[in-house]
Amino acid sequence: MRLMDRVAPPVLTALDKAMPVVLRLAPLITPKPPEPELIDRTLHLVVRSRSVVAADDNVVSLVFTAPDGGELPSWRSGAHLDVTLPSGALRQYSLCGDPRNRSYYRIAVRRIPDGNGGSVELHDEVRVGDTLQINGPRNAFPLATSGHLNTAKRQFHFIAGGIGITPILPMLATASDLWLPWTMTYVGRSKESIPFREELARYGDRITIRTDDEFGLPTAEDLIPELHSNLAVYCCGPGPMLKVVRDAVAEYPGAELHFERFAAPPIENGVPFDVELKRSGAVISVPADRSALETILATRPGTAYSCRQGFCGTCKVRVLDGVPDHRDTILTDQQRAAGDMLICVSRAEGGRLILDL
Ligand code: FES
Repeated sequence: MRLMDRVAPPVLTALDKAMPVVLRLAPLITPKPPEPELIDRTLHLVVRSRSVVAADDNVVSLVFTAPDGGELPSWRSGAHLDVTLPSGALRQYSLCGDPRNRSYYRIAVRRIPDGNGGSVELHDEVRVGDTLQINGPRNAFPLATSGHLNTAKRQFHFIAGGIGITPILPMLATASDLWLPWTMTYVGRSKESIPFREELARYGDRITIRTDDEFGLPTAEDLIPELHSNLAVYCCGPGPMLKVVRDAVAEYPGAELHFERFAAPPIENGVPFDVELKRSGAVISVPADRSALETILATRPGTAYSCRQGFCGTCKVRVLDGVPDHRDTILTDQQRAAGDMLICVSRAEGGRLILDL
């Protein structure tokens, strides 16, 4: 499935397994969302504060401000930042502060020791007073309301799994400001692992917190207690939870599902193909169930990437020969015609691609 494609409920397929870093993706069942905002905005922001926001000590929030304390570019609920870490690695993190307050940005990150290194670096290397390069905000997971993106839905249900709370937090504030009727289910391994519990207490019984250690893995009914065709569901969490939610919402043709993945989307209708790396001459076979990026990384570990979902553009390479099967959502027709390709999601329908790598 391609990013932002309309997804017809009868053809919903299995989701990817859960992965550690929150990345951006928001395909909708209905309505089809707008293209992601493509604003080239580079900022150099100062880390003003750092807080531990989960009782297990594994989630920290960082607050960024402009060096002169000035106003930052505006953003809407669901937006994220592209953060360049001290090592140069680029990672995306959802904004989880108050969209009405332009004096700061806040992100929160769970430490994942066996992840891809970004969360550990951010936890261990980034300190108050540091300046980081930040691009954005961009929004691939927008909250559609009658005043913005014009959803016809009159009720909202939010679902967060653990650190998946980050894009949902500002949505709760926005929904409350607009007096929208909303409820939320917040799940996690244990109460100690759940970030921002104290901050969420102000919403009272509109939020149901449910932990695996007490109740076991949640069912569809646990995640969406009152599913009906007039409901818009916003969900961010691990792959297995998203699958349960998607399967449930698919049973209600009028319901909307908006979700954000933790990881790369599953590959659909992939066929094997070869890539030739022009500069080294290496020829790599890409299996039907793996991305070109994954297979190239095995022999070329320094290959640039970030979102792994076809929307950040970091993995863009030039195709010197062959016909790509483009599966991204950001390249223009002109860029594709010029030979650009995003190797994290785009493929070939057999044969060989020669890449300028
Ligand atoms: S890594 Fe973001 S588009 Fe490929």
